Amino acid sequence: MKINSAEFIISNSDVKKCPNEPLPEYAFIGRSNVGKSSLINMLTGKKSLAKTSSKPGKTQLINHFKINSNWYLVDLPGYGYAKVSKSTKAVFQKFITEYFEQREQLVCGFVLIDIRLEAQKIDLDFINYLGESQIPFCIIFTKADKIGKVKAQQNIAAYRKKLLAAGWEEIPQYFVTSSLESSGRDELLDFIDDINKQ
Ligand code: GTP
Ligand code: MG
Repeated sequence: MKINSAEFIISNSDVKKCPNEPLPEYAFIGRSNVGKSSLINMLTGKKSLAKTSSKPGKTQLINHFKINSNWYLVDLPGYGYAKVSKSTKAVFQKFITEYFEQREQLVCGFVLIDIRLEAQKIDLDFINYLGESQIPFCIIFTKADKIGKVKAQQNIAAYRKKLLAAGWEEIPQYFVTSSLESSGRDELLDFIDDINKQ
């Protein structure tokens, strides 16, 4: 899919105030610093569309970006950032779960996982929560430029094993991306395009 336009529409801490249009949307979630906002910039080809930072905790709201005037990418705050105060964490958590549970326009969530790391409990918990809530999602392994292809495949195999041990029948559909090298872009955009055409 070609991206002809990508524009920031609105930031919210209240899911009820998100855009009131029946357009399909795709949301990025995952630990702080995993690369959610960078991936939005990579996909849209706009370097500074979503705000990024080397310090975790940059995105603090639900951010809607309208793509090609007919669908949305949604950037969410990260979970699991130790330095955010307990009360801030609780607020983030509240509107993240409200978003996933209440947003009718959500077609598919993408759980971002740093490909270098062993499976983290907080990610497995979130994946299990989405599964139990029957919310459609895929996994995106990020920062693939940071390790070699063989190691990446080994880490994905280890992740799959963890999910099977946690009761999953198979690893959900997944993508491997690098925002630095723009890899995984076509696969992800084609996946979204196929759903939008249905
Ligand atoms: P929060 O908004 O804090 O939840 O973080 P985020 O998940 O939006 O992460 P963000 O996109 O701000 O990126 C965090 C850091 O990781 C930045 O320093 C990015 O440059 C870096 N980064 C993101 N994606 C990649 C990638 O694919 N490769 C490399 N090497 N670095 C990346
Ligand atoms: Mg961010």
